[in-house]
Amino acid sequence: MLTQLEYAATSLVSPPLGTKVLEPVRSPLKLGVLASGSGSNFAAIAAACAKDELPAQVQVMIYNNPNAKAAERAAQWQIPSRLLNHRSYAQREDLDHAIINTLQEFGVEWVVMAGWMRVVTPVLIDAFPERILNIHPSLLPSFRGVRAVEQALAAGVKITGCTVHLVVPELDSGPILTQAAVPILPGDTPETLHARIQVQEHLILKQAIALVAG
Ligand code: GRF
Repeated sequence: MLTQLEYAATSLVSPPLGTKVLEPVRSPLKLGVLASGSGSNFAAIAAACAKDELPAQVQVMIYNNPNAKAAERAAQWQIPSRLLNHRSYAQREDLDHAIINTLQEFGVEWVVMAGWMRVVTPVLIDAFPERILNIHPSLLPSFRGVRAVEQALAAGVKITGCTVHLVVPELDSGPILTQAAVPILPGDTPETLHARIQVQEHLILKQAIALVAG
């Protein structure tokens, strides 16, 4: 049986005849973004919120890597950011408790793992049940885990892509909300392929946020 959200996701491209279109929520969805690296997905969300393309606002961006470019992007978009360095916590659960405290401090309703390179525990998942999105650079369920782009190239598939899904305790395994396919071209390297996947990531991540906001 499909959850309401999964049903809505299946209807993204062509809603069944007679489907009642839901009214958008009036107040912007309060997002918390987790990012570990360059933060291009975070920036895509921030830009869409600023342009009112999404009925959402990023309340806080949390990053775990002191060198993450995502922090610079947060400053550019005047979004509060918090460094929670995973090396400062003895256990994954301790980091997740710190994340929860920060998200709650900012009144976050939905969490977006936008290139968050840490495994999250049930501590965080249970604090935001079915309210955490993750973006992954493959067409799940293929190529879960790290180095998904390299995995696709090594497997010799001709099409890969990206997926936005709800986060569950099993890695890269929750219900899928949006996906985009990306062809693998002759001569592709991990870098060239990842760059084309990221163009699609920015689109489907915004699509998924619009879906959950509605
Ligand atoms: C994305 O490709 C995402 O799918 C993966 O990490 C990358 C993060 O990119 N999990 P960015 O930091 O958003 O630019």
